Amino acid sequence: MVNPSKHGPWAVVTGASAGLGEHFARQLAASGLNLFLVARRQERLEVLCDQLKRAHGVQARYAVLDLAQEGSDLALDQATADLDVGLLVDNAGAGYFGRFDGQDPERLAAMIRLNCTGVMLVAHRFVGRFKRRGRGGIIIVASLAGFQATPWMSVYGATKGFDLLFGEGLAQELRGSGIDVLVLNPGSTSTEFGKVAGSTGGGFSMRPEKVVGGAIRALGRKVVYVPGATNKLVALVDRIFPRGFVAHMSGRTLRKITPPEHW
Ligand SMILES: NC(=O)c1ccc[n+]([C@@H]2O[C@H](COP(=O)([O-])OP(=O)(O)OC[C@H]3O[C@@H](n4cnc5c(N)ncnc54)[C@H](OP(=O)(O)O)[C@@H]3O)[C@@H](O)[C@H]2O)c1
Repeated sequence: MVNPSKHGPWAVVTGASAGLGEHFARQLAASGLNLFLVARRQERLEVLCDQLKRAHGVQARYAVLDLAQEGSDLALDQATADLDVGLLVDNAGAGYFGRFDGQDPERLAAMIRLNCTGVMLVAHRFVGRFKRRGRGGIIIVASLAGFQATPWMSVYGATKGFDLLFGEGLAQELRGSGIDVLVLNPGSTSTEFGKVAGSTGGGFSMRPEKVVGGAIRALGRKVVYVPGATNKLVALVDRIFPRGFVAHMSGRTLRKITPPEHW
């Protein structure tokens, strides 16, 4: 649960212009935290800040940053230097469907910088700050994709495996420090992710507000959180079945939502 004296008065949410990040901002503002939002689309951040202030009487600010770019973690640290930040939602991320050798390697490298390097660098900035204040919380948004190989989006799954293991390790390092670490591992969720990723869609998706509500309730209680009964079952199967079998089944599912021209 969000504890304002520990996780407040300010929360930073990366990737707040859409999807899960936007819902984190809305739900955290509803629980009384002030919000600092980050993404590339300025107009959306501006509108969301206005809505949060009006709906919840909290303070809200934003920075337009590309978190795949070198120096963006420093820029975020400086932009929030005057704020007492207690919670980081390290959420910004993207993925792309398609066979590995058919994809632009530069775009894949930028995805690794966003999903892995960017997530780690931003976390590094705030872990230092939280240690100095003796309390805080970090939510790292990984994915169910991090539990298994994800053929047809192989690099994306690998980046999410990084986020999951990084968050789990960090949580152990920070035990007893007063800093909560939660690794959120959503399955398919109705956001702009599928459109950005170039998926053909279809299949069951969870609502983002449900995913975010569950994650906020799990903060401080769990380290690894998988929202939804079906996703929990998949995570269990991923752990108990042979890796080759899991990778094969995952590939069959993901191929169905990959446009045929990208097979
Ligand atoms: N939706 C799913 O099915 C699903 C499942 C598992 C995990 N996830 C994870 O959940 C997280 C949020 O994704 P979502 O589903 O909410 O997708 P989304 O609706 O596409 O939102 C992604 C957010 O990240 C921001 N972003 C993307 N590239 C960025 C960059 N270079 N610099 C700064 N911000 C950037 C986007 O804002 P701008 O475009 O304005 O920069 C947007 O606010 C991601 O880490 C994703 O991997 C999603």
